[in-house]
Amino acid sequence: MSAADRKPRVFSGIQPTSDSFHLGNYLGALRQWVAMQETTDALYCVVDLHAITVEHEPKVLRERSRVSAAQLLALGLDPERCTLFIQSQVPEHPMLSWILGSETGMGEASRMTQFKDKSAKQERTTVGLFTYPMLMAADILLYQTDQVPVGEDQRQHLELTRDLAIRFNGTYGKTFTVPEPYIVKETATIKDLTDPDKKMSKSSSGPRGCLYLLDEPNAMRKKIKSAVTDSEASVRYDPENKAGVSNLLTIYSSLTGDSIEKLESAYAGKGYGDFKGDLADVVADTLGPIATATREILDDRAELDRILTMGAEKARAMAAPTLNKTYKKVGFYPPVTR
Ligand code: TYM
Repeated sequence: MSAADRKPRVFSGIQPTSDSFHLGNYLGALRQWVAMQETTDALYCVVDLHAITVEHEPKVLRERSRVSAAQLLALGLDPERCTLFIQSQVPEHPMLSWILGSETGMGEASRMTQFKDKSAKQERTTVGLFTYPMLMAADILLYQTDQVPVGEDQRQHLELTRDLAIRFNGTYGKTFTVPEPYIVKETATIKDLTDPDKKMSKSSSGPRGCLYLLDEPNAMRKKIKSAVTDSEASVRYDPENKAGVSNLLTIYSSLTGDSIEKLESAYAGKGYGDFKGDLADVVADTLGPIATATREILDDRAELDRILTMGAEKARAMAAPTLNKTYKKVGFYPPVTR
């Protein structure tokens, strides 16, 4: 097979830091993951090593990693079409991360806005939180990744990853593929439902701001119906002045495939009540089945763990050649294989 025939290599990861993924994860990243497994050579990873950079409970972490993997399968990842694995099962990730950390300047690492935001929220900031972006770079570069489907909040980490790959290649000769971010503009940042100036996240304004994929359908409906809008009562896309309604239009449009213009004219002259009521049904109908499917997958833990072990074995086989090459380039002894 010539290089031109090779399918693009895709890598992305998600942290197992809550009991359920949310609508921002889904529209910003996970939906693209499912679509891209059809046309690319994709690896998807539950990044539990990243999850210990903030306070965590060991039992809860292990369970969340498992529930995370189950949700990804429930969303449509197919272990026959992609490689799905848990990061801690592939030791090449922290091994490469150490090397990349030694190539990163303190100045460039200190510019990471996610570190600044997250450390401001912690009582105690760890070195792991600071070196988090180098581990993320290792995740990506280990697999000679071409494209990384993520939301907007990961763009700066991707830039650092690219800079590190270019610098390493320049110093030691071609070692890593320089990856491109794959960010869908329309859904790059889904906003908090009660504070639409902020991105939706599990540390959002309050329980109503973040819509979880494993919420009960009625809880989803309630969250949409109580989403913050404005006093104008016209369904119009204007993110500057009508952030709440625009966010709801984005969600509606991306879940149904109807254009924003079509939705604007469908709701012309109607109030927010009708609009939110219909969107609440769309959300509950589309996302409701995910919780059931996740529960079914979790019912057979042995099978789930088998899938994950298989994924980790496949990932290790792909990661090893890059790690070995990198070890050689920096002057290490080769890793001893078991
Ligand atoms: P994480 O776990 O915070 O989020 C997973 C994915 O969801 C996207 N996302 C959003 N997209 C749109 N709107 C939102 N409100 C929203 N909230 C989250 C994120 O951009 C991400 O794509 N550092 C990464 C995990 C990671 C990774 C990697 C990603 C580790 N290694 C290698 C890509 C490649 C993170 O914390 O994502």
